[in-house]
Amino acid sequence: MTRYSSDDYARPDANVHFGVFFQGVNHNTIWSDPASASQIDFETFRRVALTAERGLFDAFFLGEGLRLREQQGKILDLDIAGRPDAITQLAALAGITSKIGLVATQNSTYNEPADLARRLSGLDLLSGGRAGWNVVTTDNAWTGENFRRGGFLDHALRYQRAGEFIDTARAIWDGWSDDAIADADSARWSREGAINHVSQSSSQFDISLRPTLPRSRQGHPVLFQAGDSSQGRDFGANYADVIFSAHGSDFDDALAFATDMRSRLRAAGRAAGELRILPGSEVVLAEKESEVEDKLRWVREGQYSGATALSLVEQVWGRDLSHLDPDGPLPTDDPVAAPISVTRGAARDGKDPHAIAAQWRALAEAKNLSIRQLAIETSARSGWIGTPAQVAERLIHFVRSGAIDGLNISPYIVPGGLDDIVDLLIPELQEREAYRTRYTGSTLREHLELPPVRSRHHSVGADAEAG
Ligand SMILES: Cc1cc2nc3c(=O)[nH]c(=O)nc-3n(C[C@H](O)[C@H](O)[C@H](O)COP(=O)(O)O)c2cc1C
Repeated sequence: MTRYSSDDYARPDANVHFGVFFQGVNHNTIWSDPASASQIDFETFRRVALTAERGLFDAFFLGEGLRLREQQGKILDLDIAGRPDAITQLAALAGITSKIGLVATQNSTYNEPADLARRLSGLDLLSGGRAGWNVVTTDNAWTGENFRRGGFLDHALRYQRAGEFIDTARAIWDGWSDDAIADADSARWSREGAINHVSQSSSQFDISLRPTLPRSRQGHPVLFQAGDSSQGRDFGANYADVIFSAHGSDFDDALAFATDMRSRLRAAGRAAGELRILPGSEVVLAEKESEVEDKLRWVREGQYSGATALSLVEQVWGRDLSHLDPDGPLPTDDPVAAPISVTRGAARDGKDPHAIAAQWRALAEAKNLSIRQLAIETSARSGWIGTPAQVAERLIHFVRSGAIDGLNISPYIVPGGLDDIVDLLIPELQEREAYRTRYTGSTLREHLELPPVRSRHHSVGADAEAG
């Protein structure tokens, strides 16, 4: 086992934080195994959320896809179908859980702040201060077609709108003073002057309203952010409490990302303790070291069916290859040269198909791999793989070195994919005093060990005294 030295950790007492990212739409969840359940039944969500709460996770996290992805005019076959609206789904989970945070991915490009801020407030109040909002801008034009707004807003303007959206949402969330509701014996239900008028005007929004809801136990929903461009990172440094990053399992990459975010945070006038970084990650555990390879092979074989492997190759080659045998070789001719972003799927976006094809051909030739074996090989080592003790040691090393604050774990199978993490990995972390042994707070903000947020109108009484 690799031994990590703890002599010069930047954060020798830091705890590991976990969220669970229930993906819904992806090609990493095993769907053909008998242990795999529906992606949309409430029972599946219930089991995953309760297991995560048993494991003292900070949050249950849902992504959002407003439109099915497509490839050459057909629904993208890599995606496991089904993704109910996140706020609706989390409201149902709020009723059967008591501690775990509930995070909804919601789009700032196609929503309106007066509506979305109110719905997120509703979730935050119903759950006793456990709501989070993962703010996404969505980088493609075809989602805009849902709203007859294909191509709406340049990339840069999307982040401008997202910033104005959050400024507006915060003004709405802060509309009520903390002591807005009057005493029971008062003649009025609200305190005079405690429900403020919100008037916000910016390039994207022009609102004038009185908010309908008070602040929650944690003030307002915790803000997550998941974009990775330079603008996305600046936006995260200015507004987010948590970054859902794509820089998880390689130590140097994760540390470089965290260092970059901390310098952007400083530039935004914020302290390092105001931001958490939770990369989206997969965890594959086997109880004994001798079983790790077999377990990993089982997971990858389940994830990469012949159809999935062919679909991945079609994304790079840019055309229908369904006639090929997934257990045979890669196509011998070159990919379609069309710009990759034309494909309405994620894998080709922004990448050079010829470079990927050349890389894959070289690998397939060197190791004599079929299409399916190649798909398995190219994803084989990403993630957190090992015995519970090995993964625990490595995680503590990452967290205490300041590279990450924990993981947003995507289970490779639902509903049972968190069981071994909760039963085997968490005890190893607790034994090393790097994971909570009970919830000490009740809000998501408290679970994340983030400083409280004060309202701009925190109390009418205090204002009167100060004034
Ligand atoms: C780890 C990660 C997860 C994301 N999850 C979602 C999602 O569930 N729904 C969505 O619409 N966009 C999602 N996005 C897309 C981002 O919100 C953003 O729109 C996109 O990455 C473009 O911004 P960028 O150019 O700054 O990366 C995700 C991005 C990352 C890096």
